Amino acid sequence: MKDITLHNKKFEVFIAETEIAAIVHSIANNINNTRIKNPLFISVLNGSFMFSSDIMKKITLPKTEISFIKLSSYLGKETTGEVNKLIGISGDISGRNIIILEDIIDTGITLEKIISLLKKEKVGDIKVATLLFKPEAYTKDLNIDFIGKSIANDFVVGYGLDYDEFGRNLPHIYKLKE
Ligand code: IMP
Ligand code: MG
Repeated sequence: MKDITLHNKKFEVFIAETEIAAIVHSIANNINNTRIKNPLFISVLNGSFMFSSDIMKKITLPKTEISFIKLSSYLGKETTGEVNKLIGISGDISGRNIIILEDIIDTGITLEKIISLLKKEKVGDIKVATLLFKPEAYTKDLNIDFIGKSIANDFVVGYGLDYDEFGRNLPHIYKLKE
């Protein structure tokens, strides 16, 4: 498969479309085996859009629902610091059993913020599913329940993941060429 160029940087195929499909299927099987009833999947945009779409087709849990959120950071009016807000949560999600869908977990900072904001909504159980995980970069103790593939600390793009907003549409996952 051909190398590609995004913003003048070269990338080579790292995980081909067929392997991604097998990984996604296996995460779905593991989630289905939990027998959770009426789960609320929460897909973290933008990166997780392709992963979410593919995995949801394989979920067989009863009364499955999905919502899409975005983590936005803005400068608070009253405070001087950065404030994080979840965009996309509408209605009451208290007591719901949540399964977070992430494209990639790197340092875990994003995940930690999302979980703390969800806890403010008094949700029930929270489980986390991620397509990719960078164990060497991870700085948190939060448990990650479903991991598709652990990878080295390389920069990857494609299948939803971007390099400065380019590359999200690619069917394969690429990594930066040395
Ligand atoms: P974290 O907060 O460090 O875990 O990083 C989370 C976010 O950083 C992910 O949701 C991605 O948007 C982005 N990210 C981390 N590693 C990569 C990568 O290798 N390629 C593209 N985006 C990445
Ligand atoms: Mg992301």
